[in-house]
Amino acid sequence: MQYRFVIVNDVIEVVRWFTNFTFNRIRYLKMLDQKEPLASFENLRVEFDTKDGKVVAVEDISFDIKPKQTVCLVGESGSGKSVSSLSMMRLVEFGGGSLAGGKLIFNRGDKGKVDVAVSNQSQMRKIRGNEIGMIFQEPMTALNPVFTVERQLTEGLIVHKGFSKSQAKKRALELMTMAKIPEPERRLKQFPHELSGGMRQRVVIAIALACQPRLLIADEPTTALDVTSSRDTCFNKPAEGRNRYGSDVYYA
Ligand SMILES: Nc1ncnc2c1ncn2[C@@H]1O[C@H](COP(=O)(O)OP(=O)(O)OP(=O)(O)O)[C@@H](O)[C@H]1O
Ligand SMILES: [Mg+2]
Repeated sequence: MQYRFVIVNDVIEVVRWFTNFTFNRIRYLKMLDQKEPLASFENLRVEFDTKDGKVVAVEDISFDIKPKQTVCLVGESGSGKSVSSLSMMRLVEFGGGSLAGGKLIFNRGDKGKVDVAVSNQSQMRKIRGNEIGMIFQEPMTALNPVFTVERQLTEGLIVHKGFSKSQAKKRALELMTMAKIPEPERRLKQFPHELSGGMRQRVVIAIALACQPRLLIADEPTTALDVTSSRDTCFNKPAEGRNRYGSDVYYA
């Protein structure tokens, strides 16, 4: 008799847990649905002027990234994933490209929404690396060869977050440890060419996360790492990267 009583109690417990789970899930999905997007790509078109004429790298793409969402952009090589990412950072112009159409809306929270596609460069300097962070696909081109790792890691913290030099150095060391770079103190004093490819990519990850951006763009963030090492980074699971560092993640 007592045995049956325990089973009934267990069944009730499971039903209660399942009902709670379902209600919470519905509530969460509704909440996501109501929230304004953090970033929106609206009919984006990007062109490059080349010696052979105009190349359309991105044609009419639209999607939203909502708060607490991880969005993955999938496409074959050359389909425009990196160019779309670079457009949100307004870096595409530095590679000879132009935003030929569409809008790139970024929600700056208390500072309101901006259309990154038409923002001036001084506004972009405040957003880039601070409110939007990016892990670049090619670490060597993302890092400045003439500055030490420490200088590149501390710069954003000093400029955007008002850290003192010593505070920024302390944080840089924490970031290096977080990115699992061996001998972080020695590595901080080195230049990018003195690091291995995997270490360089880890430095790029650390720089992107330094200012805890609202939006984190990860363009193939673990391509330069071997399979075992890439499992080891914060980008093993998209949601983990978001939870640990408080940024919303957009993967290319
Ligand atoms: N600076 C540039 N000048 C001319 N064309 C460019 C330039 N940068 C990119 N492109 C072209 O834009 C298109 C999209 O390139 P993109 O780098 O975005 O591809 P991707 O989807 O990121 O590819 P992958 O998976 O190989 O990284 C390609 O056809 C590429 O040749
Ligand atoms: Mg790419």
